[in-house]
Amino acid sequence: MNSATTLVAGIGELVTNDPAHGGPLGILRDAALVIDGDRVAWTGPASAAPDADQRVDLAGRAVLPGFVDSHSHLVFAGDRAEEFAARMTGQPYSAGGIRTTVAATRAATDEELTANVARLVTEMRRQGTTTVEIKSGYGLSVIDEARSLAVARQFTDETTFLGAHVVPEGTDATSYVDLVTGPMLDAAAPHASWIDAFCETGAFDADQARTVLEAGQAAGLRGRLHANQLGPGPGVQLAAELGLTAVDHCTYLTGADVDALRDSGTIATLLPGVEFSTRHPYPDARQLIDAGVAVAIASDCNPGSCYTSSMPLCIALAVREMRMSPAEAVRAATAGGAAALDRDDVGSLTPGARADLVVLDAPSHVHLAYRPGVPLVAGVWLGGQPLS
Ligand code: NIG
Ligand code: FE
Repeated sequence: MNSATTLVAGIGELVTNDPAHGGPLGILRDAALVIDGDRVAWTGPASAAPDADQRVDLAGRAVLPGFVDSHSHLVFAGDRAEEFAARMTGQPYSAGGIRTTVAATRAATDEELTANVARLVTEMRRQGTTTVEIKSGYGLSVIDEARSLAVARQFTDETTFLGAHVVPEGTDATSYVDLVTGPMLDAAAPHASWIDAFCETGAFDADQARTVLEAGQAAGLRGRLHANQLGPGPGVQLAAELGLTAVDHCTYLTGADVDALRDSGTIATLLPGVEFSTRHPYPDARQLIDAGVAVAIASDCNPGSCYTSSMPLCIALAVREMRMSPAEAVRAATAGGAAALDRDDVGSLTPGARADLVVLDAPSHVHLAYRPGVPLVAGVWLGGQPLS
């Protein structure tokens, strides 16, 4: 391993997410950062920077922690562009579209699935994502869920078993939940860190989701949940009651849902690309943040409800459409995503953290929302190494 030290100098604005430096982002101006191996060894004012084996000058650019995308569904084949086009001319989004992708995914080889994930992870990296969670959920058979997770594991340790995505054709919900919590979980668990379910009308009800989550937890997986995406429902309060790390979507919330999230500490992961791509209303991030709920932003990259891999787009949408400040949105996409994955080694740039950096071709994090659609990510460092 390369244990040489690198001084990254000329940082106009360094987002550390370290509360010791004040504000939501712990910003240091005219800063420098030292990398030792794959870790951050030092941050501080450029004028006080120590010597290092090599030096890189960023000429006033902003540096942020790499984005932590805590919610994606990258293991699939085919696309649903026609469904999207129909939606944009008035068709509603429904969970049933998932079955189209299930058929394509089952028909694909492991090599085809792996190549598709590699393509999307490369897209993500170019846009500053350095940690990604990847779910199964388009296999929905024992063999196809297990191989989906084995494919995902080649790219990340943050793999999530989502056998309870929808009930596949040819079975009923009760038999399918038995399969998911029995042989499918046995085959999936060796490749998964997390258990998830889609708690929504047209997918799984609260009792079924609870059964799946508790079985996953008994098998050593940690819980997260899709809930309250397409309408109000019991999922958010179920997630809070079970003390899950995160509950994702949170588009349709009652006051009692918000109270439950605040009291449980369960992170609300907001996925604004989904509302952009389904024409649903955006979640009320202001209400959540003002109530003291911890929030994360993630892409939910998938071929149905949201086919973007871009965390910068999600940040811009969160600011423009969900009334988050640029600082809140950047924090939710970095430290927020890390918290939603129970990670304390990513999402911030403090000594000891992984040296996963995003360099912007801009002087400040504000430009991510201020210049939407512009490819501002000028460089990405992963574990102390610049990506070419
Ligand atoms: O997170 N909500 C459920 N699952 C995905 C959508 C999957 C699809 O439409 O293919 C989501 O939005
Ligand atoms: Fe999702």
